[in-house]
Amino acid sequence: MSIQHNVSLKAYNTFGIDAKAKFFISVSSKEELIEALQLPQFSEYFVLGGGSNMLLTGDIDIPVLHINLKGKEEIALNTQGDIVVEIQAGENWHEFVLWCIEHNFGGVENLSLIPGNVGTSPIQNIGAYGVELKDVFQCCTTIDIETQEEKVFMLEDCNFGYRNSIFKNEAKGKYIITSVEFLLKYKDHQLNTSYGAIQQELERKNITNPTIKEVSDAVIAIRQRKLPDPKEIGNSGSFFKNPVIPKAEFDRLQEKYPNAPHYVVSDTEIKVPAGWLIEQCGFKGKRFGDAGVHKNQALVLVNYGDAKGVEILALAKKIQETVLDKFNIAIEAEVNVI
Ligand code: EPU
Repeated sequence: MSIQHNVSLKAYNTFGIDAKAKFFISVSSKEELIEALQLPQFSEYFVLGGGSNMLLTGDIDIPVLHINLKGKEEIALNTQGDIVVEIQAGENWHEFVLWCIEHNFGGVENLSLIPGNVGTSPIQNIGAYGVELKDVFQCCTTIDIETQEEKVFMLEDCNFGYRNSIFKNEAKGKYIITSVEFLLKYKDHQLNTSYGAIQQELERKNITNPTIKEVSDAVIAIRQRKLPDPKEIGNSGSFFKNPVIPKAEFDRLQEKYPNAPHYVVSDTEIKVPAGWLIEQCGFKGKRFGDAGVHKNQALVLVNYGDAKGVEILALAKKIQETVLDKFNIAIEAEVNVI
């Protein structure tokens, strides 16, 4: 474990924002993590995983703890086709998905190509194409920042919701996730191809009885068409959450916009795609200096090169105000603004 000074975080956040860390500590084992947490000169830390869900609006003065624990292990299986794997927090999410596909483990194929690391996936309960992390999550192991003791959170402890978990609420800033256990299927896996875009993609390829890999390939193709690759254009995926509004409010919206896309959440609540609301406000594909709104998916804000975090934030605020004015719907950032 070493402490580096004045390190650029540009390569450590998918938005590609050039903020600086005054102190940068990369840890690659639990022991190193505990050692770092016990450094007498520091009392607060900024925990950095894959940097895929954050917008840095300035330099960071407290030590940045880069969680770089690696390893993938099969830890248990039964004759019914269930397999439990334990993945260390610093593993790249998509590489983990590809590893599952290579081993024919089903469960995470719909979550292909999501940027970020395994260790941060439970925080916002990542989800795409009809599957959320909670559907395959068994537990995660954490270190309590205050006491450096280990604590395991089981599925039922995590209060998973849409892009939400205990780690964004009561447990926020208190624990560092060091590994995640997933409950997958090594046989008799039920694929989830109910999401319209996946069905269309499989039909296009004339696939009627898809394999795990074919579903993953379909998701990859859809994402590559719609979403910018952070290696080419800085971004953090969906910048906003899709707002959930009362049904009565949605009925009024639908009178004016009969084709408004939506998902029924319950008898009384409807989720409206924020990307559609933003597109209706004319922002899709717009560029303001190096900050912009992606041309294929208005939910994604992008950094064309040297945008400052505050410029992206100003654009996000402008979008929120315009959507509120036009639709009377408040859209909330999904990305953590630092
Ligand atoms: N839409 C528009 N204009 C746009 C974008 C979307 O009209 O610019 C409309 C589409 O036509 C479609 C609807 O909105 O009818 C939904 O679009 P899409 O299927 O792309 O999904 P989304 O609701 O915009 C969510 C997730 C994505 C995830 C996809 C697929 C959130 C905040 N985002 O987007 O997650 O990949 O569903 O499941 O829930 C992420 O979190 O970073 C992310 C990319």
